[in-house]
Amino acid sequence: MTLSDPTHRTAVILLSRGGNGPAAAEELQTLQERMRALLPDCRVTGAYVDRAEPSLPQALDACGPVGRIVVQPVFVPGDHALERWLRKVALRWRHRQPRPEATPEIVFSPALGGLAGLADLLAQALHTAAGLPDVAKTASARWQHDPVAWSDVPVHERHVLVCMGPRCTALGAGALWHRLVRRRQDDSALRKHAMVLQTGCQYPCNHGPLMIVYPDGLWYGRLDAAALDRIIDEHLPAGTVDEAHLVHRTG
Ligand code: FES
Repeated sequence: MTLSDPTHRTAVILLSRGGNGPAAAEELQTLQERMRALLPDCRVTGAYVDRAEPSLPQALDACGPVGRIVVQPVFVPGDHALERWLRKVALRWRHRQPRPEATPEIVFSPALGGLAGLADLLAQALHTAAGLPDVAKTASARWQHDPVAWSDVPVHERHVLVCMGPRCTALGAGALWHRLVRRRQDDSALRKHAMVLQTGCQYPCNHGPLMIVYPDGLWYGRLDAAALDRIIDEHLPAGTVDEAHLVHRTG
């Protein structure tokens, strides 16, 4: 074996919870860059448990030919049920590969909140905070102002609630969410017809990726791009139900 043998290489996946907007993604990106500088021999990437892409299966796909993949959770608080389920995601990913026996070892590093060193880091941050000014000194003069538009209730015929919980995210909900948002950005009639919102787990995870359309009270599951397009083109403007992906009717 030579050092260039891929079985010697380790990939690290920094696994975060998704957040709203680019700021959350930037923070994970910065952490990846710092970890790459500290671990030059490792391939360091980021992934999200929920609400954003890449999901853990997508990140595992992208690791390439390495001997070992270490998944490092970088979120607090931890959650034992979630940690158990994330291992299942990794096992399912392996099971889907053409040669499961030839895939890299996958290990999960301890949860961030359980690391003794985290308290030391927080203590350092608190030393820094000791020299910072009161919030009033850094706020703008208009800090009490909230935009008037925040009182307006948007008028839409339908609300589309897209599940971006952990299981739906692992099943590809992120790509569907981005497709829906893009379609809506490009279509003024669709913007008028439908408000689209992300939600956490809606519970019947085995049907994921899942979304609910109200006021119709229709639950669509096992969605893919073609089904989503049909719902956008036929249900949202005209109420035509995609029976093939309907898993439940409310009421
Ligand atoms: S994660 Fe979507 S229904 Fe549970």
